[in-house]
Amino acid sequence: MSTDHLKIEHPIHPIPPRLLDEKNYPKPHIDSIQKYEELYKESIDNPDKFWARLAKEFLHWHKPFETVLSGDFEHGNIAWFQEGELNATYNCVDRHALKNPDKVAIIYEADEPDQGRNVTYGELLRDVCRLANLLKSYGVKKGDTVAIYMPMVPEAVVSFLACARIGAIHSVVFAGFSSEALKDRIIDASSKFVITADEGRRSGKTIHIKKIVDDAVKNCPIVEHVLVFRRTGSDVPFNSNRDIWWHDEIKKQRPHCPIQIVNAEDPLFILYTSGSTGKPKGLLHTTGGYLLGSAVSFKYAFDYHEGDIHGCMADIGWITGHTYIIYGPLANGATTVLFESTPLYPSPSRYWETVKKHKITQFYTAPTAIRLLRKHGQEHVKGHDLSSLRLIGTVGEPIQFEAWDWYDEVIGRKECPIIDTYWQTETGSIIITPLPGALPTKPGSAVYPFFGIDPVVLDPVTGEEISDIEAEGVLSIRKPWPSIARTIYNDHERYLNTYFRPYRGYYFTGDGVGRDKDGYYWIRGRVDDVINVSGHRLSTSEIESALLVHSSVAEAAVVGVHDDLTGQCVHAFATLKSDQEGTTDVKDLTLQVRKVIGPFAAPKRIYIVKDLPKTRSGKIMRRILRKIVAGETDQLGDLSTISDPSLISKLIDDVKNSN
Ligand code: PRX
Repeated sequence: MSTDHLKIEHPIHPIPPRLLDEKNYPKPHIDSIQKYEELYKESIDNPDKFWARLAKEFLHWHKPFETVLSGDFEHGNIAWFQEGELNATYNCVDRHALKNPDKVAIIYEADEPDQGRNVTYGELLRDVCRLANLLKSYGVKKGDTVAIYMPMVPEAVVSFLACARIGAIHSVVFAGFSSEALKDRIIDASSKFVITADEGRRSGKTIHIKKIVDDAVKNCPIVEHVLVFRRTGSDVPFNSNRDIWWHDEIKKQRPHCPIQIVNAEDPLFILYTSGSTGKPKGLLHTTGGYLLGSAVSFKYAFDYHEGDIHGCMADIGWITGHTYIIYGPLANGATTVLFESTPLYPSPSRYWETVKKHKITQFYTAPTAIRLLRKHGQEHVKGHDLSSLRLIGTVGEPIQFEAWDWYDEVIGRKECPIIDTYWQTETGSIIITPLPGALPTKPGSAVYPFFGIDPVVLDPVTGEEISDIEAEGVLSIRKPWPSIARTIYNDHERYLNTYFRPYRGYYFTGDGVGRDKDGYYWIRGRVDDVINVSGHRLSTSEIESALLVHSSVAEAAVVGVHDDLTGQCVHAFATLKSDQEGTTDVKDLTLQVRKVIGPFAAPKRIYIVKDLPKTRSGKIMRRILRKIVAGETDQLGDLSTISDPSLISKLIDDVKNSN
């Protein structure tokens, strides 16, 4: 692949001197490039020694491990700290509550700015124990999966940790998914118990969560109980044979519950994500390795120090929320912000009000939010004291220079390093990032690998490793790290096929990448059929399948298109069955996607067309559709295999007319 654009000289941003000024700030844990290089080298040359040391330093083990790493990518049988036994909740709550019960664990910033509250470690422990006892009283035990479909309230965090306390596996479903998507995930994970709320609140609007759960579970005979937390107190349907009120039952429970000690390789959670095919993948993370990866990366990437207030704006329904709202901060005994609202509610100053109010030290969000706030203008930032911020971070998609500069100047005031953190649901924790006190940054680059990560750039066609420092290709990783997902729930074969078989012996990320002459990594985005809309990972075939379920749709093709605000957006083409023409419009089809997946997956545009471009063997040529919607009709490429060339001009007209 061409390496021409690696020749572009990018500005280098040194570490802001303020960060290294010991009068104002604690000394960064990793405060020079030499220190980073030394530790990085050890983590690659001697991973057993490196991770054994950190595992003992960061986690409490009820039974020590003997083996550090076993298994490899060739066989896809990775295990870490095999004989070790521990409990994730003990590590995230008990040990801090015992030492410092009054320290704030969670700052709940509710949708309405004046309705939040703080939860201390002592309170968190009591709440978690009560819920753990409640779960046990309904027969939930080690190894069972519990579905969690909750708004961003402290009780959601309590739910994660109550499951982990008793060795149950949580399967959190983002509360923006539709009832059908929730149903599929409940069935796939065989969850007999569901935790939810009456309603949610976002941007001043009500989300009818319980109703969505009711619709989902009516087709899941496996579900025995639904526990309902009262968030708004509105009247909601209640099935007394199945549903349980949180507030009624919790007060019957004792605020003490012994922990279930589990093996390091026992599952901690399942989290679904989109892949190249229509069916979502339930990635399974295990207790010891995941917790260690979260704890270590949290401390070093965010340069966490005692007293910091960590503000990760993600939703707990995604991996970012799991790792950097809950497990990473709490394993370090930190104070973490749980933000229930949106960047625009009640005004585009909401984030900055929140930073000021809680004196947030690390602020972490997605480029899509930065683009949105930049569009609203800096007058919404002015007048807010952001001086508590020590570093700011981004995650989820590549960040463009303009957004990076705005973040740097307006939010960071050129005094805060920006950490552009690259990782995935599969990696469990950050794998490429600048370390704020050690590595100068270049806007748009995720910089260097985190400890233990050995990235390689592969030629996508030959699979050969490109050993030149300047390289362009696909990103793979050579060696296992502790927090890599261990399997796809109930489908280990798919795990092997997706991650380890495309390039034998390596973990394949699915992302394109460039490495410049300074060894900096530039993530280019997905090379498979996954699209990234506002940092949400969607599969084109999942949306196509959703459209095909509609009784009028004959064929569907979905493509990802560049969008200035959301990074990418979804455009869908559909043909209708001949007897259905005229019966269905674009609105029906949009509703269909909202119903099957959720509102966040709704296509920005849907074109109902007469026919789709196909090869002579009948394969839909999405490449052509992508070019047409991008307006690049002069670059349609090789059309020799298309079965009906006359279709092209019709499609161009259809797209033009609908704009
Ligand atoms: O394409 C990459 C993009 O997000 C994908 C992972 O999505 P998900 O599993 O939902 O996890 C998102 C949050 C960790 C990756 O394959 N991605 C993530 N971080 C970055 C990124 N692309 C560019 N730069 C990043 N910093």
